[in-house]
Amino acid sequence: MSDAGPLPRIRPRRLRETPAMRRLVAETRLHPAELVLPLFVREGVSEPVPIGSMPGVVQHSLDSLRGELRRAAEAGIGGVMLFGVPSSKDAVGSGATDPDGILNVATRVAVAEAGDALVVQTDLCLDEFTDHGHCGVLDAAGRVDNDASLARYAAMALAQAEAGSALLGLSGMMDGQTGVVRSALDAAGHPRTGILAYAAKYASAFYGPFREAVASSLVGDRRSYQIDPANRRQGAREVLLDVEEGADVVMVKPAMSYLDVLADAAAASPVPVWAYQVSGEYAMIQAAAANGWIDRERAILETLTGIRRAGASAVLSYFALEAAALIREGRTA
Ligand code: PBG
Repeated sequence: MSDAGPLPRIRPRRLRETPAMRRLVAETRLHPAELVLPLFVREGVSEPVPIGSMPGVVQHSLDSLRGELRRAAEAGIGGVMLFGVPSSKDAVGSGATDPDGILNVATRVAVAEAGDALVVQTDLCLDEFTDHGHCGVLDAAGRVDNDASLARYAAMALAQAEAGSALLGLSGMMDGQTGVVRSALDAAGHPRTGILAYAAKYASAFYGPFREAVASSLVGDRRSYQIDPANRRQGAREVLLDVEEGADVVMVKPAMSYLDVLADAAAASPVPVWAYQVSGEYAMIQAAAANGWIDRERAILETLTGIRRAGASAVLSYFALEAAALIREGRTA
């Protein structure tokens, strides 16, 4: 007996003593197949263009896209999410529904190059294609018009399905988008094309670097359609609505500031729940590591492990290829 009382009988540290024990009792394990790599493809370039705020990430040419897809397939990751960067934009985002628009062209390239090894997925949103930079079309007063945007999403869904996308990433946060797109796909003979609903997508500062990545024209913000960061219940509700409307997978985005929302979704959803480690989350790790302030590789593994532990069954991450390599080496957080 010490002065402070009896020595403990219950010693949680037993399970932390050795690497072998820690490995045996680990509740969460990362696997390359659960990682999805977002890729930017820019129209009219012959060489990849670096993105300043996302060191290590580029806007691909169609040619460099092919090489990256081969590396992704070799790394054994689960899939890729394609974003288009068009050379011209207009008020309704015509490039999004044009079969020769950059995203649809890139999708055909990706499916031909790696469609068997990877799930080729596409961002379904107008913001990369509109000259005002909003995710939908605007009404006469300049507000984002929900129902007019849905008609554009339905047309975009058909263009993407025809280009061969396996999973449409609905990221626009318009009410009813999942149901409208599901009906449009089914009516046009695309019952096998899936929907990844960005169900709980928050109005976040962490999309900052992405705006550079897609050369966004946005002035203002997206607070009239993306969820207010203060709200947990709205995230849960959006997840349930998307499930009801026919989503095959639901997503929470960003990841790290919304792990409670993610845990709620994982508990309530009958379909898989994914999370998106967004551009600002990537940039923070890269910047701090470049300054020598954190250990890059450990931070990558720890953030991905935390996102998986909170309930994501797969994670979209700009670190996907590097993480896959670390996982293959047997590295853990
Ligand atoms: C919308 C979309 C965005 C992101 C993915 N899809 C931007 C936004 O909502 O402003 C952000 C992804 C990231 O920051 O990595 N097309």
